[in-house]
Amino acid sequence: MSDRSGQAYGIVSRFNHWIVALAIIGMLAFGIYIEDFVPRGPSKGALLQTHKAIGVLVLAYGLWRIGWRLAKGFLAPAAPMPHWQDVTSRVTHWLLIAGIIVMPISGMMTSLFGGHDISMFGLFVIPGQPKNAGISEFAKEVHGATANIMIAFIVLHIAGALKHHLIDRDATLVRMTSGKSSR
Ligand code: HEM
Ligand code: HEM
Repeated sequence: MSDRSGQAYGIVSRFNHWIVALAIIGMLAFGIYIEDFVPRGPSKGALLQTHKAIGVLVLAYGLWRIGWRLAKGFLAPAAPMPHWQDVTSRVTHWLLIAGIIVMPISGMMTSLFGGHDISMFGLFVIPGQPKNAGISEFAKEVHGATANIMIAFIVLHIAGALKHHLIDRDATLVRMTSGKSSR
């Protein structure tokens, strides 16, 4: 395998990373806001409709983003680092990738097997299925638990990026922002 540690992420990879990062962080905050801060009622229902429709778009874009990553491969570390940090970083990246798929799919299953339609901004509808409380409740648990796991790993991921940038002073962050391969 060629050594790709001297490379930077290309424009498509960087655009995809930041769009999906923003969408996922936004959707995590949006979901928690709806669940924990909005009382039951029509406005909660309307917000949930928006959460669901955006979430389906995130799944569609996320599949393309992950396909691009799988096709292009991950870069080797920007600078030499202890083995445990390399492993932690790889595990974190794979978990975040899994989360990009598991979050919207579990959300869709919660909703569809709860017997509810997903209205895509009023343009078309993904029809609800015959109610299956078992599947819906399980999917809801997965949706909530995966959200918490993702939050923990996103915090770790950001802490890692900052450590590389501020303490190690290597190219890890800039090769995902400006696309430079060294600093
Ligand atoms: C794109 C990624 C998504 C993220 C990051 C996300 C995140 C969240 C979060 C953090 C919550 C609050 C969970 C809790 O406090 O227990 C939530 C609730 C919910 N989400 Fe999502 N969501 C996403 C996509 C979707 C999609 C695509 C749907 C359905 C089409 C959906 C349907 C729901 C529903 C129905 C709830 C309320 C569940 C309940 O009653 O506990 N979500 N979401
Ligand atoms: C402010 C928030 C974030 C920062 C500062 C950040 C920073 C970075 C940096 C610097 C890299 C490159 C690592 C390397 O070169 O080895 C990276 C890669 C990656 N990040 Fe983030 N990230 C953030 C949010 C997220 C979020 C929310 C997700 C998940 C949805 C995510 C998923 C990934 C993945 C999967 C990679 C591996 C390369 C790729 O497929 O794009 N990041 N991130």
